[in-house]
Amino acid sequence: MSNEKERERQQTYIEKCRVYVKAFEVEHGRFPKACVVTFGCQMNARDSEKLSGILVQAGYEITDSEEEADFVLYNTCTVRDNANQRVYGRLGYLNSLKKKKPHMRIALCGCMMQEQAVVEKIQKSYRFVDLIFGTHNLFRFAELLSETLSSENMVVDIWEGTDKIVENLPVKRKYSYKSGVNIMFGCNNFCSYCIVPYVRGRERSREPKDILREIESLVEDGVVEVMLLGQNVNSYGKTLENPMSFAELLQEVEKIEGLRRIRFMTSHPKDLSDELIEVMRRSTKICRHLHLPLQAGSDRILQAMNRRYTKEQYLALVDKLKTAIPDIAITTDLIVGFPGETLEDVEETIEVVKRVQFDNAFTFIYSPRTGTPAAAMENQVPEEIVHEGFDKLLSVVQETAKERAALLQGKVMEALVEGVNEQDPAFVTGRLGNNMLVHFKADRRLVGKFVMVVLDTCHGFYYTGRMVDWLSQTKHTRLGKMVDNQWLN
Ligand code: SAH
Ligand code: SF4
Ligand code: F3S
Repeated sequence: MSNEKERERQQTYIEKCRVYVKAFEVEHGRFPKACVVTFGCQMNARDSEKLSGILVQAGYEITDSEEEADFVLYNTCTVRDNANQRVYGRLGYLNSLKKKKPHMRIALCGCMMQEQAVVEKIQKSYRFVDLIFGTHNLFRFAELLSETLSSENMVVDIWEGTDKIVENLPVKRKYSYKSGVNIMFGCNNFCSYCIVPYVRGRERSREPKDILREIESLVEDGVVEVMLLGQNVNSYGKTLENPMSFAELLQEVEKIEGLRRIRFMTSHPKDLSDELIEVMRRSTKICRHLHLPLQAGSDRILQAMNRRYTKEQYLALVDKLKTAIPDIAITTDLIVGFPGETLEDVEETIEVVKRVQFDNAFTFIYSPRTGTPAAAMENQVPEEIVHEGFDKLLSVVQETAKERAALLQGKVMEALVEGVNEQDPAFVTGRLGNNMLVHFKADRRLVGKFVMVVLDTCHGFYYTGRMVDWLSQTKHTRLGKMVDNQWLN
């Protein structure tokens, strides 16, 4: 079915849901409320905005509170087992809410639902769930919602895969000033520990014109920062009819007037091109931050992980990046406890952390995922060894991150104000281009605006600072422009 036809079809289901919403309003004297809870990564966060967009079109009010909600949707993650356990735990709680509020509907979607064993478990032991769907048929949510609202039985619709990309779904954004933008879906890398390729399917890129049109309309709607999303953005465009590289796409995005900041996630080291480094170096909009997952520092483990680079190749890449863009912040993901990993192997990871001086690193304990090659390996590492390596690595990661953060002491940098500080409403929280947070006194009306901030005090991973006053702020902005022009020349 064509994209246009599918959208029209879904629209008819939104109308059907509206009839239900109207009847609910008559009965309860208010509109029904929906709560969408996101687990997992930025992809899921963006998917949740699409699901919320459909709920809003159907007439639901969006709430953050599951207690208040008449419809609860969990958008799940299965990358590590603790993500799954959190969902099961919260489902127990939802069941107790539903007992008090029998009209409540509970739905589950996302990566975890692409696993057959999970769906079977829910069908058997969590009978109070009303709807289950997966990652490939999210665009059919209106239809599935309408079916659920008119049925007493559990509705289950899981697709094994898809080559389809449905454009222009309604979206309800979480932030007015920034947005994620999918540039590709799925993953073809099959790192041996990772379940993502199995639950998100094969890699498919969106057409550049669709991506650019979406960003243009986001900018018209007040967005100043976009995060281009893909499991491996560096292989963007390979599957298109007219192939285009990620670096080429970035250059097109850069041209969009009114857009101030560009970020992207995630870069696989094996595919990071010189062309991309050059585009980043020349850019005035691409943030000086790169998330470059290393996973492990030992070549033997990297090979068993099927990462397709060596420690030396990774280090050489970082050198190249730092030489081209000296103020770049590099962050990473690390796994401890992959099958066969020894404490000597972890020492090699520590060595890389010390040499690269990561600005931040997410450190994970290896979690066996059913169906992945690593889960079937015989040499699983005993828990005590894993914890010993993990604790050692974590302390080095924290030390180096603090050292890196301290280097910014006293600097004046541009921050995008993201929100009012939760602890003290006289303060706002801003994000620097390098992804670091800074808290400072300012009016809440500055949310969504760029301001220059002096970084006064480093608190390890964040700063407290002060906004530069108006006069010097214009001076700094001018200085910023001059620097920008130098980049271009
Ligand atoms: N596409 C991204 C990562 C997506 S998953 C990339 O390739 O970089 C995010 C992170 O979760 C990974 O970088 C990895 O560090 C971690 N991860 C994935 N599978 C895992 C597993 N089975 N156990 C522990 N950590 C895992
Ligand atoms: Fe998983 Fe590797 Fe794909 Fe990242 S690149 S999603 S770690 S298989
Ligand atoms: Fe989790 Fe799926 Fe993202 S498994 S990390 S939500 S792609």
